[in-house]
Amino acid sequence: MLKSPAVEWVPSILAADPLDLRNAVEKVVQSGIKQIHLDIMDGHFVPNISFGPQIAENVHKTYPALFLDVHLMLVRPDSFIDPFLEAGAGRIILHAELSKRIITRSLKQLRDAACLTGLAINPETSVDTLFPYLEEGTIDRILIMSVHPGFSGQTFIASVLPKVKTLKMRYPNITLCMDGGINTETAAQGFTCGAKAFVVGASFFQEQSIKKPYA
Ligand code: DX5
Ligand code: ZN
Repeated sequence: MLKSPAVEWVPSILAADPLDLRNAVEKVVQSGIKQIHLDIMDGHFVPNISFGPQIAENVHKTYPALFLDVHLMLVRPDSFIDPFLEAGAGRIILHAELSKRIITRSLKQLRDAACLTGLAINPETSVDTLFPYLEEGTIDRILIMSVHPGFSGQTFIASVLPKVKTLKMRYPNITLCMDGGINTETAAQGFTCGAKAFVVGASFFQEQSIKKPYA
């Protein structure tokens, strides 16, 4: 499963040494992975602050072939869509917990810019929240949070797995990505339930012993 072409690994540089980001991105490129996950936090939607469009732009300019998967954990994602589009974002993921007004406005901005879109759901959020947006048919992937977002290095919450199964049964063609506490073991659990993409933070950047299977 680990080297199967059916599995997509998406390294999150939130878990990397912030003083050594260049080396972290280089590690992703050297491993043959074609995309990188950028966790953007505003200190309101989640209890942490990370980085902004400048980092995305620098990564994009240095590694133009690397696809930028941008996970916005922001109360007002609509204010940051244009800066991230200009910075080179390939996909922008919004949280389904926000108001329908903000999500609808943000999705329109993304569609108008022909940017790929994703919706994320927190561990306590019901999959029902996603259905109205999925019915519209414009969402490229779902990010099922398997930790409470805000920090890298947390423990995988296995109780979200039934949500993966439900989504896979109802929307077999949409890509299901799991984010939080993913390592080779937890990814295998998610894969069995129907997820095919996995964000990897601490297990990719910090646990030397299991870095190899991702390559
Ligand atoms: C959680 C972020 C994740 C996370 C991944 O707030 O959205 O992308 O940092 O890191 P690990 O894999 O260490 O949980
Ligand atoms: Zn993330």
